[in-house]
Amino acid sequence: MPCPALPDGFDFTDPDLLHHRVPLPEFAELRQAEPVHWIPQQPGIAGFEDEGYWAVTRHADVKYVSTHPELFSSWLNTAIIRFNEHIPRDAIEVQRLILLNMDPPEHTRVRGIVQRGFTPRAIRALEDTLRRRAHSIVQEAVAQTGPFDFVTQVACELPLQAIAELIGIPQEDRLKIFDWSNKMISYDDPEYAITEEVGQESATELISYAMNMAADRKQCPAKDIVTRLVAAEDEGNLTSDEFGFFVLMLAVAGNETTRNAITHGMHALLTHPDQWDLYKRERPSTTAEELVRWATPVVSFQRTATQDTELGGQLIKKGDRVGIFYSSANNDPTVFDSPEVLDITRDPNPHLGFGGGGPHYCLGKSLATLEMDLIFNAIADAMPGLRLVGDPRRLRSAWLNGVKELQVSAS
Ligand code: HEM
Repeated sequence: MPCPALPDGFDFTDPDLLHHRVPLPEFAELRQAEPVHWIPQQPGIAGFEDEGYWAVTRHADVKYVSTHPELFSSWLNTAIIRFNEHIPRDAIEVQRLILLNMDPPEHTRVRGIVQRGFTPRAIRALEDTLRRRAHSIVQEAVAQTGPFDFVTQVACELPLQAIAELIGIPQEDRLKIFDWSNKMISYDDPEYAITEEVGQESATELISYAMNMAADRKQCPAKDIVTRLVAAEDEGNLTSDEFGFFVLMLAVAGNETTRNAITHGMHALLTHPDQWDLYKRERPSTTAEELVRWATPVVSFQRTATQDTELGGQLIKKGDRVGIFYSSANNDPTVFDSPEVLDITRDPNPHLGFGGGGPHYCLGKSLATLEMDLIFNAIADAMPGLRLVGDPRRLRSAWLNGVKELQVSAS
C-alpha cells in the first residue's frame, strides 16, 4: 500500500540515497505515519530481495525483531554479499556458514566458540599495542604539510591493525586483507569499478588464506584467535568451512564499520566545535557511543519472518523480508531527547548502532569503542587544530554509511 509519507518508488536500500545523505528524513516521517511499512522492490534497484521488504523504523520494533530470532530468522540476513541471479545457488548455501546468517542452535554453538577470542581480557591485552599504533598513525598524519585524506591516512589503519592483531595475521599480509575486504563491500559503487564477481573472488581468496593460516597454526600453535578456533575445530565443534567464513566476516565487520565510525565521528566533532572543544578538555568516556549513534555505520540488516506475525500494526507473512533500520531507531525521539543534537556526554545512550541486543549483537563492540577512544585521544593530543578542508565523499552502498574521502588539515 502506498504510504503518504513516502514518494512513489522510494526505497531505503537505493544505494544512491546513502551516497548522498544520512540520516534520511523519510525515516522520521515513516516513524510517525506507518512505522512498519512495505517497500516493494523497485526496478533497477537491487535492494534486499526480489519482492520487497518491510521497513521497520521505530527503536522498539527494531529491538523486538532483533531479540526474537524464533520469529525473525537471520538466514539470508547478510548484506556482505548480495544475492541475485548472478550468484549461483551453491554460493547462497555457503552463506549459511557466516555467523551473521545463522540461527540457533548453530548460531549459539559457533558464537560460543568464537567469542572466546573477544573476552574483555583478550581485548585488554591488545590495548597497549593499539595505543602505540594510534599514536604513530597520528604522528605520521601530523607530519603532513598540507591537506590530507583522513580516511586513508588515519581512519583505515587502526581497525585494520586491530583485527589483524586479533586474528594473528602477519604484518606483511595485512594490506591483502584490507584489499579483499574493501572489494567485498564496494561493488555498489561504480567508482571502484568492482563487479560482484570480483567481490566473490576476494571472498574466496580470503577464505583460502584463512584455511592456510589454520593449517599453519595446527603445526605451530600461537596465542591468537586462529589457534583457539583451530583447537575447537579439532574437538569437532567447528567445521573448517565455518572457520574460514568467520575470518572473512571478521575482516569485513572489523574493518569497514570501525573505519566509518572513526571518519564520521571526526567529521561530526569538527562540524560541532563546541563538542570538539569539550572532547579536548574532558575526553568524556561516553563519546564513542554517541558517535556510533550519530553515524550509525551499519544503516540496516535484514531478517526473514519464520511465521505469520504482527508488528507495528502490520501483518507480516511467513517468508517476508524485514529490514531493521538502526539508523532510524537511533533517531527515534521517543527514546532519545533531541536526537538531532550531537551530545558526547549523552548518558544513558541505548542506541542500536551495534545491533538491537539480540543473539547477533556486535561481537566487536568493545574493540571498536576502544579503537575509537584511542584514536580520538591521540588526535586531540597531537592535532588539536585539525580542520576540515572539504566535504566527505560518500560510499555508494545499500546498507553501509560509508565515507571514501575526507580532506582535512592538521593546522
Ligand atoms: C555484528 C555494528 C565493529 C564483529 C554487528 C551488527 C552490527 C554491528 C549492527 C549486527 C547485529 C545484529 O544483527 O543484531 C558494528 C559497528 C562497528 C562494529 C557499528 C564499529 C563501530 C566490529 C568489530 C568487530 C565486529 C571491530 C570485530 C573485530 C562483529 C561480528 C558480528 C557483528 C562478528 C556478528 C555477530 C553475530 O552474528 O553473532 N556489528 N560493528 N564488529 N560484529 Fe560488529
